[in-house]
Amino acid sequence: MPKSAALRVLITAGPTHEHIDAVRYIGNRSSGRMGLALAEASARRGWSTTLLLGPTQIPPPDTSQVRTIRFQTAADLERLLAGQWPSHDLLLMAAAVADFRPAGHQTGTDKIKRSSGKVTLELEPTPDLLAGLAQGRRPDQAIIGFALEPQDRLLSSAREKLASKRLDAIVANPLETMDADRVTATLLLANGELVSPAPGLAKADFAEWLLSTVAPLPALRR
Ligand code: CTP
Repeated sequence: MPKSAALRVLITAGPTHEHIDAVRYIGNRSSGRMGLALAEASARRGWSTTLLLGPTQIPPPDTSQVRTIRFQTAADLERLLAGQWPSHDLLLMAAAVADFRPAGHQTGTDKIKRSSGKVTLELEPTPDLLAGLAQGRRPDQAIIGFALEPQDRLLSSAREKLASKRLDAIVANPLETMDADRVTATLLLANGELVSPAPGLAKADFAEWLLSTVAPLPALRR
């Protein structure tokens, strides 16, 4: 197990685009900025950093210190995680993975014509990628999830996800964080501890705070 000074960090960022046909998709408003800030902060620490980046307009980090791999769909991300996770110590799952996608038999490589008339989309749930990874991980790997929730059930929902997905920690963000430059978040740890940085931090400063706080977690799990 490498020392925290040489952590191997895997970060996911951005939305997924779930194909309806050759030109249309179901997406979400995630910009990917939180995950990008984490990747930049991780590289600044000299940690070996891999970024799995979804379809966002924001360019990937302009540094060879971050290895960036692009994905489009939850299924792409699932495949990439399966390949990458075994060679990393810490996963920061900031990507806003679609919860539903057009059911397999409906997606095609053709473009649905307007003249086809009314169209009904059947959606199927995507697999819970985090829960799957948490189940099969090694004792020296730590997993941090992100939960975006309405303020009135922020902590209760985050606590529930922390336990049901068997994570080491979860970042609870109010819904307003999605398009914002600043973050007021709380970190819930699996041991029941609750820690918060100063409210209203710029995403880059929040990223620094989060990395220092979670850096010891992989070694603690041994
Ligand atoms: N996540 C995941 N796989 C999914 C959906 C979400 O791994 N299919 C991850 C996200 O990247 C995030 C965490 O799970 O780190 C919480 O995401 P969220 O959408 O809040 O959780 P869900 O389990 O999808 O619950 P909800 O029904 O509230 O959306």
